[in-house]
Amino acid sequence: MSAEENLNTLLKENRTFAPPEEFKAKANFNDPDVYKRAEADPEGYWSEQAQKLSWFKSYDKVLDWDPPHAKWFTGGKLNAAYNCVDRHREGPRKNKAAIIWEGEKGNNKIYTYDMLGREVDKTAHMLMELGIKRGDRVAIYLPMIPELPISMLACAKIGAIHTVVFAAYSAKALNDRMSDTDAKLLITADGSLRGGKIIPLKDNADKAVKDTNVEKMLVVGNIGKESNTSWNPDFDVDWGTLKDKMPANPVPNEEMDSEDILYILYTSGTTGKPKGIVHTTGGYLTSVNHSVRSVFDIKEEDVFWCTADIGWVTGHSYVVYGPLSQGATTLMYEGVPNYPERDQFWNVVEKYGVSIFYTAPTSIRMFMKWGPEHTEKHDLSSLRLIGSVGEPINPEAWMWYHKYIGKEKCPIVDTWWQTENGSILIAPLPGITTTKPGSATKPTPGINADILDKNGNSVAPGNGGSLVIKSPWPSMLRTVWGDDERFQNSYYGDYKGVYTSGDVAHKDEDGYFWVLGRDDDVVNVSGHRLGTMELESAIVSHQSVAEAAVIGRSHVVKGQALTAFVTLKEGIKGTEEMKDEVKQEVVKQIGKMARPEEVIFTAGLPKTSSAKIMRRLLRDIAEGRVVGDTSTLEDPAVVEDLKEKYQGKED
Ligand code: WT7
Repeated sequence: MSAEENLNTLLKENRTFAPPEEFKAKANFNDPDVYKRAEADPEGYWSEQAQKLSWFKSYDKVLDWDPPHAKWFTGGKLNAAYNCVDRHREGPRKNKAAIIWEGEKGNNKIYTYDMLGREVDKTAHMLMELGIKRGDRVAIYLPMIPELPISMLACAKIGAIHTVVFAAYSAKALNDRMSDTDAKLLITADGSLRGGKIIPLKDNADKAVKDTNVEKMLVVGNIGKESNTSWNPDFDVDWGTLKDKMPANPVPNEEMDSEDILYILYTSGTTGKPKGIVHTTGGYLTSVNHSVRSVFDIKEEDVFWCTADIGWVTGHSYVVYGPLSQGATTLMYEGVPNYPERDQFWNVVEKYGVSIFYTAPTSIRMFMKWGPEHTEKHDLSSLRLIGSVGEPINPEAWMWYHKYIGKEKCPIVDTWWQTENGSILIAPLPGITTTKPGSATKPTPGINADILDKNGNSVAPGNGGSLVIKSPWPSMLRTVWGDDERFQNSYYGDYKGVYTSGDVAHKDEDGYFWVLGRDDDVVNVSGHRLGTMELESAIVSHQSVAEAAVIGRSHVVKGQALTAFVTLKEGIKGTEEMKDEVKQEVVKQIGKMARPEEVIFTAGLPKTSSAKIMRRLLRDIAEGRVVGDTSTLEDPAVVEDLKEKYQGKED
């Protein structure tokens, strides 16, 4: 479906779902006045939310706004690990499950807050032993095993800055991130399990540390003997061996400034180089904690399962910092949805009595494709709230989710936000908001989001434009690591003091937001955000490639799939092997999740007279639409050739 067709179907959507009475009666947030209160006094509202955290020293000022630079809760001192772990050990939550970890083999580990605290302390001792100090950067390249959140929290405890690199990223991508942050330590594992296969993480890590300032590599023995990795005793440190040598005494929680950096997380943008998004301590924790109480309605007895990998921001905020800051039980699953069988997620929901479930539309569409027989095998009656994130959810998938997972009783929260935002910005409050399938509904309390036209005016209901945030919010990115100019230009270059998201959205007659997708050269494949420039530079680094253009075409399950249009150097043949080489080059440079679905060789790429590649036109070709006027093209024949080559391609 084209973007326009998509929009038309979306805007015809008129089904509405009011919060069920029973849910509403018990909801954490059920007074609609909260929106007005927050709008009338945003700083007062956010200060009230910040009070839910434990501060060593209270802040002097809520907000210091020098556009586009914001400081939140200045003068305040706190520690994220104290807020997420130690403070819960001091009261009745001491022996409550903090992390339930389910392994791919059906093995599990459950950490109470007290146990988690001891693990974090031991790990903090290890970091100190390895010379890590407050402000140092620690890169973490781990699969979904408990050592991942434990490492993050240990960094936070001693004031080190973590930068987590998703385990499917390549050695090159890991090297880029460690170089950019000037990381001193890398924490990784010998290997990881994925769908029954062993992924050799340490081999990648060994390649990645070359030409960096990484001094040591701390290696979790996750696979054991089967991993067969090489070992350098001067550089590699075995997690288990070192941990056994560490003292049992607690490590003090470093008193961090509210504006001290908690973490850096890389995300794709419109240029070739990923951006290191900087999040700080007080504001970030305030927002994520607020959203688990408001959007997810988290209560003491909930089991919260966010299926995202911790390597993405969704996992940072809603597997780790959000639920733990609230003293909730968070579930972490090591594996994939279809291993050992296609009912695996529902098996996990039933096994642990998951009550809040949060996943991505691409997964929901996959479940739809597999059919309801897999969900019907299990008792899902523990679920009371379900959520979606990562890309627009089509009304059909929303309805399926509502019927087969939510059993027509669970409210659905479609949550819009970005790595840069730190926490959910547009979403229903499940005890207040009437939902519409396909709409993330309205900005959450305290968030001043809007849709602007080209002249910077707020669009009238029924119109669309650029999705922006007009006022600062606590968990907003503070800068791009090492490149403040890029931060200013990328996010605050369009309108003064207004954050531009890069998404296009439509506002309906009721003021509901309908997010349509990206406005720029960023593609969303299965909820993974990739920059076309980044992909293109990976492809052209192949010695046989002259030029490349990558586009995201619509795909029924993935949302978007990558098509690479490639011109080869003189004399090189466009064989099937060459297609594989091109795909492999992307895997090598970026990672498996960036592997193009298809490679099309072409003698030339369509360009405007100013030599700009016409990606929109390529998208039209890839999505099988008739191409209109091509007279502004430098070489119209190129298009005919491409259209011909593209025929017969299907999902
Ligand atoms: C982009 C951000 C932090 C969320 C995970 C992805 C798209 C995200 C929605 C939604 C429509 C959505 C946007 C956004 N997006 N959630 N509910 N409805 N679109 O984080 O990798 O930083 O990607 O994901 O296009 O800009 P990210």
